[in-house]
This record gives sequence, structure tokens and C-alpha cells, in this order.
Amino acid sequence: MDEVPRTPETANARRSARIPGFHRMSMEERRAAVAAFAGLDDEAVVRLADTGALPADLAERMIENAVGAMPVPIGIATNLRIDGIDRLVPMATEESSVVAAVCNAARLNYDDGGFITSATQSLMIAQIQLTGVSDPLGARLAILERRERICAICNACDPVLVRHGGGFADLEVRIVESRSGPMVITHIVVDTRDAMGANAVNTMAETLAPHIEGWTGGKVYLRILSNLADRRLARARAVWRAEALGGPDVVEGIVQASHFAEADPYRAATHNKGVMNGVGACVLATGNDTRAIEAGAHAYAARNGRYASLARFERNDAGDLVGTLEMPLAIGLVGGATRVHPVARTCVAILGAESAQEMARIFCAVGLAQSFAALKALATDGIQKGHMGLHAQNLAMMAGAVGEEIDAVAGALVASGSVRMDLAETELARLRNEKG
Ligand code: MEV
Repeated sequence: MDEVPRTPETANARRSARIPGFHRMSMEERRAAVAAFAGLDDEAVVRLADTGALPADLAERMIENAVGAMPVPIGIATNLRIDGIDRLVPMATEESSVVAAVCNAARLNYDDGGFITSATQSLMIAQIQLTGVSDPLGARLAILERRERICAICNACDPVLVRHGGGFADLEVRIVESRSGPMVITHIVVDTRDAMGANAVNTMAETLAPHIEGWTGGKVYLRILSNLADRRLARARAVWRAEALGGPDVVEGIVQASHFAEADPYRAATHNKGVMNGVGACVLATGNDTRAIEAGAHAYAARNGRYASLARFERNDAGDLVGTLEMPLAIGLVGGATRVHPVARTCVAILGAESAQEMARIFCAVGLAQSFAALKALATDGIQKGHMGLHAQNLAMMAGAVGEEIDAVAGALVASGSVRMDLAETELARLRNEKG
């Protein structure tokens, strides 16, 4: 490893991040404190203060110490036909080419039926960590014997969920060997219906914990949901005709790419990043918890003891490409930011999904489309070609181009075959010179 140079003594190192009462300040006061700390000018503070479509008071209620909001573009994925229904899918992402990739992938199978999806029930697991029992096997059975009681305790925590057909669904108790000795881990499995369910299952786990201590004589520490939501899977499948892709060579390239990702964790990580480019953008647009979905996806990818790929591609008898994706998708349609964030609410309305499960199935189809598009590009031209147009536009804007200048500078960069910042500046100067 290279040696990391020591940070020199600078003004930064002498500033204090200890700001007593910061959380009690108004948003404006907090911004002033941050501006003083970071040396922000007035323009930067005004930009930070602009929360756009998210009312400032709502931002303050959503998180602590709020000072502003971070606008991320929302693009609409078109061409998606999912289970026979046409969908427009809002995607919130900062990455260029992601939305276009889904549109292109979906265009290529739209006429052949698009995507077929399915899902398991919306079951979430909460874990209760019991320690300090000398008879873990006995403790395990002592918990399992009380299934009916546990069901009643859990359901009493959330009568609304029960009224909507959800609530306690199952009980499992595992003995996990750890460095602190055996732990008796209770899983309560809860049908959370249209809610993501974190609050519901965490409340149940916390309520149940003292009972478990009483029944076993042990000590409970953690009581929290598992993000490995492997009882809450969404699945998507699609066929792309070889002819629509440009022939058998393209199919072969995508299948080879898929086998590479199955076999090699280094490649699988990138392959799955492609899936999550699609899924994560949908999750963010609808105000769902992106980190929960990422954690669940990667844990699921490693469920067999070795990290592997989520989306898979194979060739069918007709020589066409068959793509499949199965992954945990613990998302909600009610509650949290999905309900309160005005933009998230609009994105949900655009999607038109009637249940969290339906929404998860759509997101899964988008993940598959995204992965397909990435592999198609990688197995043929490479991704830089597609990226360069938008990258050139970004460079043009960074060079100072505005309005029509952006396309003109970007076009010149792409045509020259060298998409570089210095050339963007030269081209912009040339253009302005020419205009006089
Ligand atoms: C880039 O954001 C995503 C890809 O790297 C995915 C992949 O390699 O499959 C292109």
C-alpha cells in the first residue's frame, strides 16, 4: 500500500465541529453556522436553502439538523411492458445513461411481450438476540412452544396491519455460534403488506424481548429487522430475440458475461451494481429506503456462501436470450417518505402500482432491463461510446457552456473522438470567438 501523506496543519484542522444546540437552531441559523465553518459565499447558501418541491418544514421533520435538500434528476423510463401492462417508470439518479439504458432494453422486447414478473408474500423478518443461556437447545424449544402467545403479542402491536390482512406469519428460532458463545436468535416473520414494515417489526421485536427473557432466563440485546429480506422476493423474466439484438454473437457475448459474473465475485459486484443502477433509482424516486434494498440485494447475492450475480442470462432453444432476476425488494407504498414527500407521491402516481408487491415487481423488471443493457453494451461496443455523449455535455457545462452552446460544444467533442475538459474549454472559446 502507498503511504498516505499526513494532512498538513491548515485552517480546516483548527475549525470546531462542536456546535452546541445546532439541532435547536432554525434552518437559517444552521446554514449560517455551516457557512461560517466552511466559508460559503451567499450564493452557495441560497442554493443550499432551495429545497425545491420539498417544503423546508417537511425536510426538517424528515431528518435532524436539516439545512437544505439535494435535487437529483428524475427521468422516466419508457417502453416498459410488464405483465401485459404498459408502465412509465420514474427513476431518480445522478448517473447518465441509466434511464436511456432501460428505455433501450425495454424497446427491444416490447413487441415480444416485455417482462413477466412474480413475487413472494411481503414477509419481513425481525431478529431477537438472546444471550447468556446455558441450555440454548432448551431455550430454543421454550420459545417455539409459545408460538400462539408470540403471535398474539406481535399482532397486538399493530392492529391496523392485522386489519389489512397482515401481521405475525411465522416463528423460527436458530442457534448461532459466535465468539461470545451460542446465541439463540428468534425470527418473527411478519406479513407487512403495503408497508416496508421496519417500524412494525421492530416494535414487535422490542415488545416480545422481555417475554423471551422471562421464558428462558437469558439476556436480550438486539431487537431489529433483518435486511436480508429473503421472504420478500421479486422476480422478473424476459426474452430478447437474437434478431432484435443483432444476431447470435450478441446473445453469446451476454451469456458469456453472465457466466463471468456467476463465477467471479469481482465481476459480480460490478454486474450487480448495474442491476442496482435501475432498482436503486426507482427506490429513490418513490422515497423508499435505498440502503435497505442495497443491503438486502448484496446479502442475497452471497446467500450461498460466495458472492455471486443477481441477474442471469441464458440462451433458449430458439437461440434467443432469456434474462432472469430474483432479489429481495422490501419496499413500501404506505408510510415514510413515500407518503410524505410530494415528489415521491407523484412518482408513485406515475407508476400506478396498487400494492407494494406490484411496485417491487416493476422495480425488478427495471433492474433486469438495466443489467441487460449494460451487458449488451459491454459485450459489444463497450460502454464508453454510449456514455460519451452525456459525459461530453457535462464537460461542456463544466467548461461554462450555457444554452445552445452545450450541445454545440458536446457535439464537437464527440465528433473529435476526444471527450476532454481542456478541449471543451478550447471549443467553447472558439465558438464564442466565432460569434463575436
Ligand atoms: C455502470 O454504472 C454499471 C456497469 O458497470 C454495470 C456492469 O458492468 O454490468 C456498466
